Amino acid sequence: MISLLQCIACGKKYSLSDVRFTCDCGSLLDVLHDLDALKKQFGISQAYYSTKRAKIQGQPTGGVWHFKELVLPSIGDEDVISKQEGNTRLYRNKKTAAWLGLDHTKLYLKHEGENPTGSFKDRGMTVAITQARALRQRAVTCASTGNTSASLAAYASEAGVTGLVLIPKGSVAIGKISQALAYGTKTLVVDGDFDDCMRLIREAQETLQAYPLNSINPFRLEGQKTIMWETLVQLEWRVPDWFVFPGGNLGNTSAFGKALHEAFELGLIDKMPRFAVIQASGASPFYKAYKNNFAGLVPEKADTIATAIKIGDPVNYTKAVRSIRWTNGVVESVSDEEILEAKAHVDGSGIGAEPASCATVAGMKVLIDAGVIRKNETVVGILTGNILKDPQSIVDYHITHKGVHANPPADIDASIDEVKKYL
Ligand code: F0G
Repeated sequence: MISLLQCIACGKKYSLSDVRFTCDCGSLLDVLHDLDALKKQFGISQAYYSTKRAKIQGQPTGGVWHFKELVLPSIGDEDVISKQEGNTRLYRNKKTAAWLGLDHTKLYLKHEGENPTGSFKDRGMTVAITQARALRQRAVTCASTGNTSASLAAYASEAGVTGLVLIPKGSVAIGKISQALAYGTKTLVVDGDFDDCMRLIREAQETLQAYPLNSINPFRLEGQKTIMWETLVQLEWRVPDWFVFPGGNLGNTSAFGKALHEAFELGLIDKMPRFAVIQASGASPFYKAYKNNFAGLVPEKADTIATAIKIGDPVNYTKAVRSIRWTNGVVESVSDEEILEAKAHVDGSGIGAEPASCATVAGMKVLIDAGVIRKNETVVGILTGNILKDPQSIVDYHITHKGVHANPPADIDASIDEVKKYL
């Protein structure tokens, strides 16, 4: 077998066709690929991915499926369910770099909010729903702070399977709920928080055989790995010193670590970049565990304006610890005020992203000011979600609360003299 499921704790192996998300011992599962065999079979090298021009179902495979043999080699091209996810821009931005105190040639912002449903989730969803259909699952589910539900809804529709999403009452941005409703998935608003929703999804998997598309699903993480590889191709394989990104349920932290570990094993890169995972201070169990030398995760009641990462009991904790160790990484926390200030700069620079994504840039600022990220180092920040996901946060900042960098609209009479005042 070219790919298997393997327990990250005891190493026990299972077939990819087993419908399971944890090992008999209770730990998380990885998708394990036979990298040596794949390398030989496809001639995997930097040049292979820099020049590959393949098609799936008649469409060019940029993005996730560009890396098909390292993501889901077992699937036939005809069985892939894709919306051409990935291929996201890697921005340079002088204004944000100046605010961070970095030379603009040292900063890149990769915008995962430019995926089909507006977040990085689509990269994982295309793979997990493809696997769900290969396993003939009749219903797919997720717990979500919003983006996963939007993505699941769109892909369940595309795949023609029943979708069911659980979201915490009062904690999901309007753009995201709107998507889940509009794409036609049944949405259950749970009187509880995200961690309650996640618990129900795990129970639904065990008792109702509903197939979860949360990041506990190892196939989701296989798709999200491609954010790292795609960045490396865009950088012509120059490994940046840092990747900085937000941490909530820690799916990206886990997937990104696996991606770079595999790239290293395959000889695609010869040094590992460092990770900086940024949490909101009101939802920072991973940050606290890091400060405590990863002695253990203490779940907490989460609270932050960045609702996407309002998570107190991340399911991928053990995989995320592994990623921090592989990359000599750090974990930082930022206040809601710091997130809003960073968001004002990212938005005002003409790029824009939702609050959780701007935790990335807020965290960069803290780490640069503290000298952890040095000014001669190259930094890639991942912006995880689109600016239009959470328009309420923008209205609150610019109009209702008039934040420090607020740009409120002005009401005028219908006269050219009034217009002139503002030019
Ligand atoms: N950024 C955004 C915009 C997100 O939606 C999420 C997670 C994260 C960051 C954190 O990523 O969980 O891999 O550490 N959103 C999930 C959801 C939980 O349900 O949409 P993570």
